[in-house]
Amino acid sequence: MNIPKHIAIIMDGNGRWAKKRKLPRIVGHKKGVDVVREIVKHCGIIGVETLTLFAFSSENKNRSNEEVTLLFKLFLSVLKQEVEKLNKYNVQLKIIGELSLFPIDVQKTATEAQTLLANNTGLTLVIAANYGGQWDIINACKQAITDGVSATELNEEKFSQYLSLQNNTVDLLIRSSGEQRISNFLLWDIAYSELHFTDTLWPDFDAEELDKAIESFNQRDRRYGGIK
Ligand code: IPE
Ligand code: IPE
Ligand code: MG
Repeated sequence: MNIPKHIAIIMDGNGRWAKKRKLPRIVGHKKGVDVVREIVKHCGIIGVETLTLFAFSSENKNRSNEEVTLLFKLFLSVLKQEVEKLNKYNVQLKIIGELSLFPIDVQKTATEAQTLLANNTGLTLVIAANYGGQWDIINACKQAITDGVSATELNEEKFSQYLSLQNNTVDLLIRSSGEQRISNFLLWDIAYSELHFTDTLWPDFDAEELDKAIESFNQRDRRYGGIK
Protein backbone atom coordinates (compact mmCIF):
# COMPACT_ATOMS: atom_id res chain seq x y z
CA MET A 1 0.00 0.00 0.00
CA ASN A 2 1.31 3.41 -1.00
CA ILE A 3 0.86 5.76 1.97
CA PRO A 4 0.27 9.39 0.94
CA LYS A 5 3.07 11.58 2.27
CA HIS A 6 0.74 14.47 3.02
CA ILE A 7 -2.91 14.07 4.01
CA ALA A 8 -5.16 17.09 4.61
CA ILE A 9 -8.60 16.80 6.19
CA ILE A 10 -11.61 19.12 6.29
CA MET A 11 -13.13 17.84 9.53
CA ASP A 12 -16.77 18.68 8.92
CA GLY A 13 -20.06 17.56 10.45
CA ASN A 14 -19.63 18.05 14.20
CA GLY A 15 -22.73 20.22 14.48
CA ARG A 16 -24.95 17.84 12.52
CA TRP A 17 -23.67 14.92 14.59
CA ALA A 18 -24.75 16.74 17.77
CA LYS A 19 -28.06 17.92 16.29
CA LYS A 20 -29.01 14.36 15.37
CA ARG A 21 -28.65 13.52 19.06
CA LYS A 22 -30.39 16.71 20.26
CA LEU A 23 -27.14 17.78 21.93
CA PRO A 24 -25.46 21.21 21.88
CA ARG A 25 -23.08 21.71 18.93
CA ILE A 26 -20.07 21.90 21.26
CA VAL A 27 -20.62 18.24 22.22
CA GLY A 28 -20.03 17.39 18.56
CA HIS A 29 -16.84 19.46 18.54
CA LYS A 30 -15.62 17.66 21.66
CA LYS A 31 -16.35 14.28 20.13
CA GLY A 32 -14.47 15.53 17.07
CA VAL A 33 -11.37 16.07 19.20
CA ASP A 34 -11.42 12.37 20.21
CA VAL A 35 -11.34 11.51 16.51
CA VAL A 36 -8.39 13.86 15.97
CA ARG A 37 -6.47 11.96 18.66
CA GLU A 38 -7.19 8.63 16.95
CA ILE A 39 -6.27 9.92 13.48
CA VAL A 40 -3.03 11.59 14.61
CA LYS A 41 -1.97 8.36 16.31
CA HIS A 42 -2.89 6.27 13.28
CA CYS A 43 -1.04 8.56 10.85
CA GLY A 44 2.08 8.21 13.01
CA ILE A 45 1.80 4.43 12.95
CA ILE A 46 1.27 4.04 9.21
CA GLY A 47 4.01 6.54 8.35
CA VAL A 48 2.22 9.61 7.00
CA GLU A 49 4.76 12.47 6.95
CA THR A 50 2.38 15.42 7.23
CA LEU A 51 -1.22 15.61 8.46
CA THR A 52 -2.92 18.97 7.96
CA LEU A 53 -6.24 19.47 9.77
CA PHE A 54 -8.73 22.25 9.13
CA ALA A 55 -9.85 23.23 12.64
CA PHE A 56 -11.28 26.72 12.15
CA SER A 57 -11.75 28.66 8.92
CA SER A 58 -11.43 32.41 8.37
CA GLU A 59 -15.20 32.39 7.87
CA ASN A 60 -16.03 30.38 11.03
CA LYS A 61 -15.67 33.54 13.12
CA ASN A 62 -18.99 34.62 11.63
CA ARG A 63 -20.73 31.98 13.78
CA SER A 64 -22.40 32.93 17.06
CA ASN A 65 -20.15 34.47 19.70
CA GLU A 66 -21.06 31.59 21.94
CA GLU A 67 -19.83 28.92 19.52
CA VAL A 68 -16.66 30.84 18.61
CA THR A 69 -15.77 31.38 22.28
CA LEU A 70 -16.40 27.73 23.11
CA LEU A 71 -14.26 26.64 20.14
CA PHE A 72 -11.37 28.88 21.27
CA LYS A 73 -11.68 27.44 24.79
CA LEU A 74 -11.69 23.90 23.45
CA PHE A 75 -8.68 24.61 21.24
CA LEU A 76 -6.78 26.03 24.20
CA SER A 77 -7.57 23.17 26.57
CA VAL A 78 -6.76 20.51 23.95
CA LEU A 79 -3.42 22.16 23.14
CA LYS A 80 -2.48 22.26 26.81
CA GLN A 81 -3.72 18.76 27.49
CA GLU A 82 -2.18 17.01 24.49
CA VAL A 83 1.22 18.65 24.09
CA GLU A 84 3.07 16.18 26.33
CA LYS A 85 1.55 13.19 24.57
CA LEU A 86 2.40 14.68 21.17
CA ASN A 87 5.96 15.08 22.39
CA LYS A 88 6.06 11.44 23.48
CA TYR A 89 4.86 10.45 20.00
CA ASN A 90 7.69 12.56 18.48
CA VAL A 91 5.15 14.79 16.68
CA GLN A 92 6.17 18.19 15.27
CA LEU A 93 3.44 20.81 15.48
CA LYS A 94 2.80 23.69 13.13
CA ILE A 95 -0.16 26.03 13.50
CA ILE A 96 -1.08 27.97 10.37
CA GLY A 97 -3.59 30.80 9.97
CA GLU A 98 -4.21 34.32 11.20
CA LEU A 99 -3.41 33.62 14.83
CA SER A 100 -3.11 37.31 15.73
CA LEU A 101 -6.93 37.47 15.85
CA PHE A 102 -7.05 34.77 18.54
CA PRO A 103 -7.27 35.56 22.27
CA ILE A 104 -3.81 36.24 23.68
CA ASP A 105 -3.76 33.11 25.90
CA VAL A 106 -4.45 30.94 22.83
CA GLN A 107 -1.60 32.63 20.94
CA LYS A 108 0.78 32.13 23.84
CA THR A 109 -0.07 28.45 24.31
CA ALA A 110 0.18 27.86 20.55
CA THR A 111 3.67 29.39 20.42
CA GLU A 112 4.82 27.42 23.47
CA ALA A 113 3.51 24.12 22.09
CA GLN A 114 5.18 24.68 18.71
CA THR A 115 8.49 25.54 20.40
CA LEU A 116 8.36 22.47 22.66
CA LEU A 117 7.74 20.13 19.71
CA ALA A 118 10.02 21.90 17.23
CA ASN A 119 12.89 19.40 17.37
CA ASN A 120 10.77 16.28 17.01
CA THR A 121 11.30 14.17 13.91
CA GLY A 122 8.08 12.13 13.56
CA LEU A 123 4.74 13.11 12.02
CA THR A 124 4.32 16.80 11.23
CA LEU A 125 0.89 17.83 12.47
CA VAL A 126 -0.36 21.05 10.91
CA ILE A 127 -3.40 22.69 12.47
CA ALA A 128 -5.13 25.30 10.31
CA ALA A 129 -6.79 27.74 12.69
CA ASN A 130 -8.45 30.94 11.52
CA TYR A 131 -7.06 29.85 8.20
CA GLY A 132 -8.26 30.70 4.71
CA GLY A 133 -6.63 29.67 1.46
CA GLN A 134 -7.24 33.15 0.05
CA TRP A 135 -5.71 34.78 3.13
CA ASP A 136 -2.66 32.52 2.72
CA ILE A 137 -2.12 33.62 -0.89
CA ILE A 138 -2.55 37.34 -0.10
CA ASN A 139 -0.25 36.98 2.89
CA ALA A 140 2.38 35.32 0.70
CA CYS A 141 2.12 38.16 -1.85
CA LYS A 142 2.56 40.76 0.88
CA GLN A 143 5.65 39.02 2.26
CA ALA A 144 7.19 38.57 -1.18
CA ILE A 145 6.65 42.26 -1.92
CA THR A 146 8.12 43.23 1.46
CA ASP A 147 11.17 41.07 0.64
CA GLY A 148 11.56 42.94 -2.64
CA VAL A 149 11.03 39.87 -4.82
CA SER A 150 11.04 41.10 -8.43
CA ALA A 151 8.56 40.10 -11.14
CA THR A 152 11.32 38.32 -13.06
CA GLU A 153 12.44 36.14 -10.15
CA LEU A 154 8.88 35.23 -9.11
CA ASN A 155 7.82 31.74 -10.15
CA GLU A 156 5.78 28.90 -8.62
CA GLU A 157 8.65 27.60 -6.54
CA LYS A 158 9.69 30.99 -5.21
CA PHE A 159 6.08 31.95 -4.42
CA SER A 160 5.30 28.73 -2.58
CA GLN A 161 8.08 29.45 -0.11
CA TYR A 162 5.96 32.31 1.20
CA LEU A 163 2.86 30.17 1.76
CA SER A 164 2.05 28.60 5.13
CA LEU A 165 2.91 25.08 3.96
CA GLN A 166 5.81 26.24 1.79
CA ASN A 167 6.47 23.53 -0.77
CA ASN A 168 4.66 20.74 1.07
CA THR A 169 1.85 19.99 -1.40
CA VAL A 170 -1.07 17.75 -0.42
CA ASP A 171 -1.35 14.21 -1.83
CA LEU A 172 -4.76 13.30 -0.45
CA LEU A 173 -7.49 15.71 0.63
CA ILE A 174 -10.39 14.25 2.60
CA ARG A 175 -13.65 15.96 3.55
CA SER A 176 -16.16 14.35 5.88
CA SER A 177 -19.91 15.00 6.21
CA GLY A 178 -20.96 14.71 2.57
CA GLU A 179 -20.16 18.29 1.52
CA GLN A 180 -18.12 18.41 -1.66
CA ARG A 181 -16.40 21.77 -1.53
CA ILE A 182 -13.13 23.30 -0.37
CA SER A 183 -14.61 26.06 1.86
CA ASN A 184 -11.49 28.24 1.46
CA PHE A 185 -9.11 25.58 2.86
CA LEU A 186 -5.78 25.08 1.12
CA LEU A 187 -5.99 26.34 -2.47
CA TRP A 188 -2.50 26.52 -3.99
CA ASP A 189 -1.34 23.37 -2.20
CA ILE A 190 -4.14 21.13 -3.51
CA ALA A 191 -3.51 21.84 -7.21
CA TYR A 192 -2.83 18.13 -7.85
CA SER A 193 -4.27 16.49 -4.74
CA GLU A 194 -6.49 13.46 -4.98
CA LEU A 195 -9.88 14.25 -3.44
CA HIS A 196 -11.88 11.91 -1.22
CA PHE A 197 -15.35 12.74 0.06
CA THR A 198 -17.18 10.64 2.63
CA ASP A 199 -20.70 11.04 4.03
CA THR A 200 -19.47 10.07 7.50
CA LEU A 201 -19.77 12.95 9.97
CA TRP A 202 -16.42 13.85 11.55
CA PRO A 203 -17.28 12.54 15.06
CA ASP A 204 -17.98 9.13 13.47
CA PHE A 205 -14.78 9.13 11.38
CA ASP A 206 -12.07 6.71 12.50
CA ALA A 207 -8.81 4.98 11.54
CA GLU A 208 -10.72 2.45 9.43
CA GLU A 209 -12.30 5.29 7.41
CA LEU A 210 -8.87 6.78 6.88
CA ASP A 211 -7.58 3.44 5.62
CA LYS A 212 -10.51 3.34 3.17
CA ALA A 213 -9.56 6.78 1.87
CA ILE A 214 -5.96 5.61 1.46
CA GLU A 215 -7.16 2.50 -0.39
CA SER A 216 -9.11 4.73 -2.75
CA PHE A 217 -6.00 6.93 -3.16
CA ASN A 218 -4.11 3.81 -4.22
CA GLN A 219 -6.57 3.25 -7.09
CA ARG A 220 -5.89 6.69 -8.57
CA ASP A 221 -3.73 7.27 -11.59
CA ARG A 222 -1.85 10.49 -10.88
CA ARG A 223 -0.91 11.83 -14.28
CA TYR A 224 -0.10 15.48 -13.51
CA GLY A 225 -1.24 16.44 -16.97
CA GLY A 226 1.02 13.90 -18.65
CA ILE A 227 0.19 10.74 -20.56
CA LYS A 228 1.20 7.27 -19.45
C1 IPE B 1 -16.75 21.35 11.60
O1 IPE B 1 -18.04 21.02 11.98
C2 IPE B 1 -15.97 22.03 12.68
C3 IPE B 1 -15.82 23.49 12.49
C4 IPE B 1 -16.16 24.14 11.43
C5 IPE B 1 -15.24 24.23 13.60
P1 IPE B 1 -19.26 22.04 11.81
O2 IPE B 1 -19.37 22.84 13.05
O3 IPE B 1 -19.11 22.80 10.56
O4 IPE B 1 -20.45 21.01 11.72
P2 IPE B 1 -21.72 21.10 10.77
O5 IPE B 1 -21.21 21.32 9.37
O6 IPE B 1 -22.55 22.23 11.25
O7 IPE B 1 -22.37 19.78 10.92
C1 IPE C 1 -15.10 24.08 6.85
O1 IPE C 1 -16.34 23.68 7.31
C2 IPE C 1 -14.24 24.50 8.00
C3 IPE C 1 -13.79 23.46 8.91
C4 IPE C 1 -14.07 22.19 8.83
C5 IPE C 1 -12.93 23.90 9.98
P1 IPE C 1 -17.59 24.68 7.34
O2 IPE C 1 -18.69 23.91 7.95
O3 IPE C 1 -17.20 25.96 7.94
O4 IPE C 1 -17.84 24.92 5.78
P2 IPE C 1 -19.16 25.31 5.01
O5 IPE C 1 -19.75 26.49 5.69
O6 IPE C 1 -20.08 24.13 5.06
O7 IPE C 1 -18.71 25.58 3.61
MG1 MG D 1 -19.72 22.46 8.68
